[in-house]
Amino acid sequence: MTKKNTLKIKKIGVLTSGGDSPGMNAAIRSVVRSASYYGIECCGIRLGYEGLINGNVVEMGPRSVKNLINRGGTELKSARSAEFRTVEGRQKAAETVKKYGIDALVVIGGDGSFTGGMIFQQEQGVPFIGIPGTIDNDIFGTDYTLGYDTALNTAVEAIDKIRDTATSHNRVFFVEVMGRDAGFIALNSGIATGALDILIPEVRDNIEDLFATFENAQKNGKSSSIVVVAEGEKLGGVYDLAKFTKMKYPEFDVRVTVLGHIQRGGTPTVADRVLASRLGLAAVEGLMEGKSNVMAGIQSNKVVFTPIEEAIKKQNEIDKDLIKLADILAI
Ligand code: F6P
Repeated sequence: MTKKNTLKIKKIGVLTSGGDSPGMNAAIRSVVRSASYYGIECCGIRLGYEGLINGNVVEMGPRSVKNLINRGGTELKSARSAEFRTVEGRQKAAETVKKYGIDALVVIGGDGSFTGGMIFQQEQGVPFIGIPGTIDNDIFGTDYTLGYDTALNTAVEAIDKIRDTATSHNRVFFVEVMGRDAGFIALNSGIATGALDILIPEVRDNIEDLFATFENAQKNGKSSSIVVVAEGEKLGGVYDLAKFTKMKYPEFDVRVTVLGHIQRGGTPTVADRVLASRLGLAAVEGLMEGKSNVMAGIQSNKVVFTPIEEAIKKQNEIDKDLIKLADILAI
């Protein structure tokens, strides 16, 4: 069913902000084409809020987003803008909004980007809807964020390869995956690759427990091990973990791999492309219906809108059953 443009929005500006994630391009495409479908003009703001401050704006139409759905990164580029945190910066941004006749914004990004949009709306009265774009999957109000599925698949592919060499040499590998504050990538990639242990920021880990896990593994006849560690894990980084393990077990052949930004790039998976497409349309229709200061997300495979304040303040909880699952299957 097509929607009514209750707010009489004539032009939407779309931007990507914060860390890029695969699927952002598919979301831009969806916003631009959905807007066009409803007779709404669209422009892209380059380099996130920086572009809004500097008037870095490009007009966009259905043809300008061709061949975009399959591309990683963000065609509009992204940045973390310090100036947008200042009133002066936001005033400059408001001038750009006025100059280009932008009635509302779609902000594709994470917590920080949404906070910026919320303050901008409160101060300058520019309606906005957020689309959660981050590989970390740590945004409340959606089961999945754009890029998470792709990043997981990238991590799993890499860890599978590490397993080959770990097994061939009877080695212990500590593999660091991304997740500054959240262990979703670590937990799920760890389960999918059969990791011996998974260390995440949400769980208070203890080095003695890790050592006990190694000893059990030895007793159970395991000759190589992979420990997946989230970047934000509190016990210490992968290098310290490797050092302490080597001190305790000099006979272990220990290695470290940090997967890093490889997880942020690459062709988005089907799940990310479809999610991005759905949320792009939802954001446009939401704005038309007068929604603002909300995030479009997916819950139980249905599009839902969550107040931005909640999306920012609340945390996506780690599923305890998955932690138990990982422990049980690692015997
Ligand atoms: O927010 C996503 C994320 O990938 C985090 O997991 C990571 O800590 C961070 O971005 C690194 O971002 P950058 O190198 O762009 O500062």
